[in-house]
Order: sequence, then C-alpha cells, then structure tokens
Amino acid sequence: MTTSIIPAAGKGTRLGSNLPKALVPIAGKPMITWTIAAFEQTPVVNAIVLVAPDDSLEEFERLRTENKWQKVFKIIPGGTDRQQSVWKGLQAMPSETEWVIVHDAARPLVKPSLIVSVWEAAQEIGTAAIAALPCSDTVKRTLDGVLIAETLDREQIWLAQTPQVFAADLLKEAHEQAIKDGCSATDDAALVERLGVPIRLVMGDPTNIKITHSVDLILVEALISGKF
Ligand code: C5P
Repeated sequence: MTTSIIPAAGKGTRLGSNLPKALVPIAGKPMITWTIAAFEQTPVVNAIVLVAPDDSLEEFERLRTENKWQKVFKIIPGGTDRQQSVWKGLQAMPSETEWVIVHDAARPLVKPSLIVSVWEAAQEIGTAAIAALPCSDTVKRTLDGVLIAETLDREQIWLAQTPQVFAADLLKEAHEQAIKDGCSATDDAALVERLGVPIRLVMGDPTNIKITHSVDLILVEALISGKF
C-alpha cells in the first residue's frame, strides 16, 4: 500500500496573505484542492494523510466533503515546522503502508505522471527516489550573505522538488534518528541521506513550482490558464 503525506500546515507569511498558504486561491480554488486533485488522479496512490494548520481543520474537512476526496484517509493538525508536520503524518498513516510519497501542498501543479515516475524509481532501487531539476544558474556559496565564498560546480547541483518517495520503514527510521540527533532539514531526503542509503534522482518538472512568494502565484495562475 502507498500513502501520500501532504504537509499543508504552513502559514504563508512570505506570500503576504492572512489565509494559511494552502487555502490561498489559485484560479478561483484553494491551492490545496489542486494538489489533492493530482493525488486523487494518480493510480499508485491508495491513501492520503493531509496535514493542516490546527486552526483550519474544519475548513479542510469542509473541502474534503465539497470536493468528494475519496483517498483522504485523515486530516490532522501540523507541527511547528515542516519536518514535524511530516513526522505527525507518519504516525497517522494506515498501518499497511509500505511506500510513502511526501509532497508539499505548496506545489499544486504536480502531474500524476511525475508522481508515478518517482514512485517507480523508488520501487526499482528499493529505498527512495525524489523529483529534482538540474541547476541552470551558476551557484555561489556565501558565509555572510555579502561576499562570495566560492562557486560550486553546477554540473553537480540538482534542485530538490517533491514528490519524494520512500520505503515507509526507512522514512520512519530517518525521522526517529533526526529527532535523536536534534537534526532538522527542509526536505525528507536530507534525513534519509544521513542513513547512507541510495536515493535516486528523477527528472522533475519546471512547472512543478513551489509557491513561496506572490510572484509564484502569478506564474502558477498563468500556467493553469494556458497563458504560457
Ligand atoms: O514553508 P515551505 O514552503 O518550505 O513549506 C513547504 C511545505 O510544508 C508547504 O506545503 C507547507 O504547507 C508545509 N508546512 C507544514 N507545516 C509547517 C510548515 C510548513 O506542513 N509547520
């Protein structure tokens, strides 16, 4: 059985909105409805654990009914950061879960075909796979945000996206180890990397944009309406 955990408990402060980020409208519908629709349409996904802001649980339940989400197994309150929200999602999964797909609610344009490709790559290698894009910019590292410390070799840099797919026991172990070590990370692959197991890169999709700033909303709306 494959379960998707969708962390959607972010505040959306950087978007400058009063609404939680996952409820910000995109082309007339809350962001989360676009993201869940992609997972509802993906055949390999059996169940969804939706991690919501704790003051928006009722609104998420209302959206579940209104949109007739079939696969949403539980809607649970999130934690203080993304890692905690995913950790809570792991506790709420159906016990038969063998594979976990973690996907940020903030990437509403994810395509079912990408979800399937990453899932298949994870099955092939037996551990984990993530969507990522080769970096097209030249990358500078800085220690103070003012001066360049060094230029990294672009050929070796890939930008991580979600979906990220993991064997369920492996992801649980990675989160438990991170808690023990007091380690925090901005994606789940980083926690699994610490266990030294192989993780496959799968070519992501440049339209699978993560909505962080208001310009991202404009881009995503333009993509949805076919303007480019
Ligand atoms: O803030 P950022 O865009 O990196 O968040 C990535 C994803 O993690 C978003 O979908 C957001 O809703 C989610 N998140 C969460 N719980 C938090 C913070 C972020 O589920 N406490």
